[in-house]
Amino acid sequence: MALRDILIFPHAHLRKVAKPVQTFDAALATLVEDMFETMYAAPGIGLAATQIDVHQQVIVMDISEDKNEPRVFINAELLSQEGEVEHEEGCLSIPGIYEKVKRPARVRVRAQDQHGETYELDADGLLAVCIQHEIDHLNGKLFIDYLSALKRDRIRKKLEKQTRRAG
Ligand code: NI
Repeated sequence: MALRDILIFPHAHLRKVAKPVQTFDAALATLVEDMFETMYAAPGIGLAATQIDVHQQVIVMDISEDKNEPRVFINAELLSQEGEVEHEEGCLSIPGIYEKVKRPARVRVRAQDQHGETYELDADGLLAVCIQHEIDHLNGKLFIDYLSALKRDRIRKKLEKQTRRAG
């Protein structure tokens, strides 16, 4: 297993659209393992492959308190969305920024696990928010896209300044 570097906004590759996974092979298993290791180390509750500059439809997640409920969503698609909820979101690619975002409150998702088995899942609460947030990543979308342009610009400037200091 290996830790992967997480792309930080406004890195242009965060805007790339991920392709469906076709082959469920050893390389995919390694990718999933690396993504879990990277997510747990960060620490975070979800990670999309886009965030480590791999543009395949792979998401890992663990929203449990004890970090013992790993979930894998490959080629995830939302079958339905309903209701509305406002939740404060953060993102490993946008460190230190937390903002309220409105999204559908309940979703039904169809995805494959790391072995290629298809499953469907009904989600609400934090799980529903997290699934939508991560699927957005695969489409090149970030939670700050739901904020005003002014707010987003302020966040971009702040992170650019931090990146310059670090680099
Ligand atoms: Ni994120």
